[in-house]
Amino acid sequence: MPAFPENFLWGTATAAYQVEGAWDEDGRGPSIWDTFSHTPGLVANGDTGDVACDHYHRLEEDLDLLAGLGVGAYRFSISWPRVQPGGRGPINRPGLDFYSRLVDGLRTRGIAPVATLYHWDLPQELEDAGGWPHRDTALRFAEYARLMGEALGDRVDTWTTLNEPWCSAYLGYASGVHAPARTEPAAALAAVHHLNLGHGLAVQALRSVVAPGASMSVTLNLHHVRGVAERDADAVRRADALANRAFLGPMLEGAYPRDLIDDTASVTDWSFVRDGDEAAAGQPLDVLGVNYYNPTLVRLWDGADVRENADGHQDGAASPWIACEDIDFVRQPGPYTEMGWNIDETGLTELLLRLHRDYPDTPTMITENGAAFADVVDPDGRVRDERRVDYLRRHLTAVAEAIAAGADVRGYFVWSLMDNFEWAHGYAKRFGIVRVDRDTMERTWKDSAHWYRDVVASGKLPEA
Ligand code: FCB
Repeated sequence: MPAFPENFLWGTATAAYQVEGAWDEDGRGPSIWDTFSHTPGLVANGDTGDVACDHYHRLEEDLDLLAGLGVGAYRFSISWPRVQPGGRGPINRPGLDFYSRLVDGLRTRGIAPVATLYHWDLPQELEDAGGWPHRDTALRFAEYARLMGEALGDRVDTWTTLNEPWCSAYLGYASGVHAPARTEPAAALAAVHHLNLGHGLAVQALRSVVAPGASMSVTLNLHHVRGVAERDADAVRRADALANRAFLGPMLEGAYPRDLIDDTASVTDWSFVRDGDEAAAGQPLDVLGVNYYNPTLVRLWDGADVRENADGHQDGAASPWIACEDIDFVRQPGPYTEMGWNIDETGLTELLLRLHRDYPDTPTMITENGAAFADVVDPDGRVRDERRVDYLRRHLTAVAEAIAAGADVRGYFVWSLMDNFEWAHGYAKRFGIVRVDRDTMERTWKDSAHWYRDVVASGKLPEA
């Protein structure tokens, strides 16, 4: 059975807006996700993050939950509008106190804090001033990073600047299925750049104030793109440029890939990239966070037959795939999770090996991986979520295979610790290894939580 390296970091992950609730308490300002979820029709069932998992008020209980799982690390995010309500100006002390208690509570339980600075909850005031397409947002982000570094920098082991800037830029500003629900392709590419710039400036700011041993990282939802046939190679290249190299280029190599600029020339001239920006984005990183759920399959589309738009957007509706009108995102064979995402762990091994090949000096860490299923609570109170156990086992095996083939993978975080607010899908999609009862907020270990605790304790996968 696959075993993992001695010091492999085992964890679980959450994000502020998805679990905290307390959306208007203790001086927290509104974020773009409050605005989005409070707009009728944008989130399934009209769900909001107003209460979420009430984690803000159940901190001690949730810390004990983590201790019970035996994890060595916990990945959480800091809500920017909780600690700096308008995205600028002084710290909101009660908001900061919450994260201070969280970090201390983790440390006293022997759990390493992995803090993400931005998991999509931009202060609404900054969006009103232009949002990520606007350069100033990158500067405000670096300032916020410095404030957090000064306040928590002696106690946080790993800092992650951004979570999945792909989603922030393309789902937020191109397809509009995420906050702030804008459908402006040129603005989305400007957002890409200001996210990259903000990341680099934040790393610089953090390095100047945090403990020298702290790790710097970013989390990307890299797409493992495959073509249907040999003739689709150019579709693969273009999807890879837009989804992956638009971030990997500046962040890890200090430059945008030429082909990305050419591919998107009809949308923007990229004049928002100023001298020195790419170098600023390309700060040395200690670890690259990778979120993986499934691979992406593409083909060139000549308009002759009906396409399926497996990425979920309707023909004629705004797409996150800018300047890819002639690319078809093909529905892949099942089985599928409740999200409709196909289960294929081979993409994870291949992706990790590609990163190892392209960036041999940058270790990786799986900062999210997991599955939503329509869990059932049995009469005896147990949640027998064997499909989730199977998903996790497959993907951990895939990670072990990548390690055996030479990839330097430092850790793995299950998405998610508990069922939570799954963005535009609301609470209908349950990703937790711990169930959250929506009426009582009671936390119940699913079978997958018991299984994961055993994996963490032994450092290897049990027999199937
Ligand atoms: C990722 C997000 C995370 C969660 C999972 C299912 O894109 O980072 O918050 O919603 O998907």
